[in-house]
Amino acid sequence: MRRFTMIALAIITVCIWAGCTYKKEVTDMATLPIVTCDTTNVRYSVEIVGILSANCYSCHAAPASFGGGNILSTYNNLKPYANSNLLYHVVNQTPGYDPMPKGAAKLVSCDIAKIRTWIRNGAPNN
Ligand code: HEC
Repeated sequence: MRRFTMIALAIITVCIWAGCTYKKEVTDMATLPIVTCDTTNVRYSVEIVGILSANCYSCHAAPASFGGGNILSTYNNLKPYANSNLLYHVVNQTPGYDPMPKGAAKLVSCDIAKIRTWIRNGAPNN
């Protein structure tokens, strides 16, 4: 009887352990899409305009009365800021640069990565 109890306990222990291991795998899988940042197809007209209109146009769309005269609301206006990397450094909040968006939380890292990728791709008007 005692041996039976020991075996039963051993089986239960293995089941619980296996159950936990399995559960952990499922949890890891479930969190995967959240930590992934897809920068494979960053377009000016979709991702970049989306990020800037949500975070920057309130001060930087023409007529720029707030944004120190820095108009970022069309491709031709934005391009020089991309070419000089100023756009990247302000959102990355690189030391020595004016941190943007002014008076608001730093952009999420995925948005910053998209801006960086777009600039590295030559800041195309796509
Ligand atoms: C609340 C208003 C406001 C918001 C929102 C804002 N900015 Fe600015 N931005 C300013 C002002 C004002 C300046 C002029 C410099 C200063 O006063 O800091 C400026 C300057 C800049 C400059 C020029 C910096 C330089 O060194 O010449 C860039 C580039 C810039 N902003 C990009 C952005 C981007 C990109 C966003 C969105 C992620 C953003 N800003 C959001 C107000 C804003």
